Amino acid sequence: MNLKTAYRQFTCGELTRAHIGTTVSIVGWVHRWRDHGKLFFVDLRDRYGLTQIVFNPDINVAIHEMAKNLRSEFVIQVSGKVTARENPNKNIPTGEIELIAESLSIMSRAKTPPFELNDDQIRVDEDLRLEYRYLDLRRTFMQEAIIFRHRLAQLVRNYFSEQGFIEVETPVLMKSTPEGARDYLVPSRVHPGKFYALPQSPQIYKQLLMVAGYDRYFQIVKCFRDEDLRADRQPEFTQVDVEMAFVDQEDVLLMVESLMEKIFRELKGIDIKLPLLRMTYDEAMSQYGSDKPDLRFGLKILSLNDLVNNSEFKVFSDALNGKDGLIAAIKVDSWSEFSRKKADELTDFIKTQGLGGITYIKLDPTGIQSPIAKFLSEEMMASIISRMQATTGDVILIAAASKKNVLNALGNLRLKLAEQLQLTKDKPNSLFWVVDFPLFEYDEVEKRFMAMHHPFTAPADATLMDSDRGQVKAKAYDLVLNGSEIGGGSIRIHTSEVQNKMFDALNLTSEEREKKFGFLLKAFEYGVPPHGGIALGFDRLTALLTGRSSIRDVIAFPKTNSAASLMDQAPSDVDARQLRELHIKTNP
Ligand code: AMO
Repeated sequence: MNLKTAYRQFTCGELTRAHIGTTVSIVGWVHRWRDHGKLFFVDLRDRYGLTQIVFNPDINVAIHEMAKNLRSEFVIQVSGKVTARENPNKNIPTGEIELIAESLSIMSRAKTPPFELNDDQIRVDEDLRLEYRYLDLRRTFMQEAIIFRHRLAQLVRNYFSEQGFIEVETPVLMKSTPEGARDYLVPSRVHPGKFYALPQSPQIYKQLLMVAGYDRYFQIVKCFRDEDLRADRQPEFTQVDVEMAFVDQEDVLLMVESLMEKIFRELKGIDIKLPLLRMTYDEAMSQYGSDKPDLRFGLKILSLNDLVNNSEFKVFSDALNGKDGLIAAIKVDSWSEFSRKKADELTDFIKTQGLGGITYIKLDPTGIQSPIAKFLSEEMMASIISRMQATTGDVILIAAASKKNVLNALGNLRLKLAEQLQLTKDKPNSLFWVVDFPLFEYDEVEKRFMAMHHPFTAPADATLMDSDRGQVKAKAYDLVLNGSEIGGGSIRIHTSEVQNKMFDALNLTSEEREKKFGFLLKAFEYGVPPHGGIALGFDRLTALLTGRSSIRDVIAFPKTNSAASLMDQAPSDVDARQLRELHIKTNP
C-alpha cells in the first residue's frame, strides 16, 4: 500500500530501523510534547501510529524556537533524518527510531481540546464527546472501533458476494408502511400534504426483489425508527439485510451461521462450532425468561409447581390458585456472601419487576436457612433441593405469581445477578438461534392479535391461522449473541391467500390492506418464489465484537438517547420559507 502524498513520504506508523540515515517528511497531529530545556520532543500522530520528533537547537536554532510554540493537536509537517533512539520503546512499531527535525511547517493551530485525547483510561462525559465528535474520533478507543467496523463490513460484503449475492440499493424515500415502530416522515414539496417515510427496514423492497428474480440479495443499509432509545438502539442504525429465494428456514440459518463462523475466525481468531444451537422460543422463555437469553452462565429457571402444590405458604397457594400461576426458582452456586441484607436488596429489585417479593433457601454449612422453611415439609424441602441440584453453599431464589410475571422477573434477575457476580467474565461467547416464535402476540390493551415479527412472516402451519391464532408458530428466527438480539428474520408468506389470512388476523380491512400494502399484493399476482431472509443489527454486532457497551461507541456520528446530534444540533428549526414550500404549519 502506498500512502505517500504531496505532504508526506511516510505515515507516523511506518518508520523503523530500516529507515535510519534517510531524510524523510511526515505530517500529523501533535499528540504530546515535552520541553526538556535544550531538546523539544513531539510525538506526532496520525491514524497509523506515533513517531517521536526531536527539535535540537544544535541542528537548527530557528526551527527549535518555532517548535517551542507547538501545542497539542497542532497539525505540522516535519522533515528530518531518521536516527536510532537512545532509549527504544518496544511497545510501538516506530519505537526504535526518532526523527531529528530539520524543517518544520505548522499547517494549522489548535485550541486546547475540551478533553484529553491521548489517554483512553480517562472517563469523559459522553455529551462532551458527542459535541466534539471529530476530536473524540481521534482517540485510539474510537479509532479501533471504527476501523474494526470497516473490516467487518468488508468481510460481510466479500462473503455474500462470493456466495452469489447481489448488493442492491433500495429507496430511502418510501411509502409509509409502519413495521412496528414509528416512521420518520419527510414532507413532499411537490405533493402538498403528502409524506415519504424513511425505511424502518428494506423489508418490502427485498421481497419485491425476490419477485423480480434476484434470488440472492444483500445490502448494508441504514434503517430509521422513531422509537425509545437506549444503549443498543439508535434512531438510524445499520442492518446487514439479506433475502434469498427458493429457500426454507435451514437454508437461511446455515448461510448466516457460516458468515458468523468466518467473522469470528478472521476478525477475532475464535473458532465457533457449527451448526449453532437452535433453541425454541418456548424453551428460551420458560428456562431463561427471555427470548434472547444469555447462555454464558446458568441460573436456569425451573418450575417448582408440582413440588409445592400442598405447601402452607400463602404466596405459593395464591399463585397456584390464580390463572396460569407459576412458582419457579433459580440457583446461584456457592454464594457465600448471600445474606439477609442481600435478600432485601433482591426483594427491592424484584418489586420493580412487578412481583410482590422473592424468597430463598440457603444451603449454609450450618444448615438450611430459609424464611419459608416452616411452611414446607421436609420432603418438599428435599425435593426442591434435589430439583435444583443444589449443594452446600448454594442459594435457591424462588418467586411466585402469574407465569408471565415470574418468568419476566426471574429473567431480569438472572441478568442482574450475572452482572453483580461477574458471571460472564472470561466466558466463551454464546451464539445461537431462537426458533419457532409464535406468529402472533395478543395485545391486551388493543384486545387484538398483532404480528410478532412483521405481517409478512410465514406460519409454520397456515391451517391454524383462523382457528387457534395464539398457538400458530412462525417460521421466524432470531440470532442471539451474549444475550443480545443481533439479527432476526423469517420465511415469508408468498401467496396472496395466506397473506390475506394474515391481514384478516390482524383485523386489517380490505381498504387498509389495499392502501398500505396494495403494491405488494399486486406483485404477488405475478409469480412469487418461496423466499425468506434475515437482517443483522450491524451496530450491535460491531459493539459486541469490540467489547463496547453502547452502539454509540461504534457509530461515527451517533445520536443521543433523545435522538439529537449534539455536534450539529439536529434536529433544528428551519426557515419559515422552507416550511411554506413544504405546506407545513408548526404547532409548537
Ligand atoms: P428487526 O426489526 O428484527 O428485523 O431488525 C433486525 C436487527 O436490527 C437490529 N436493530 C437495531 N439496532 C440498533 N438500533 C435499533 N433501533 C434497532 N432495531 C433493530 C437488531 C435486530 O435484530 N425486516 C426485518 C428483518 C427480516 O425479517 O428479514 C427487520 O428489520 O439487531
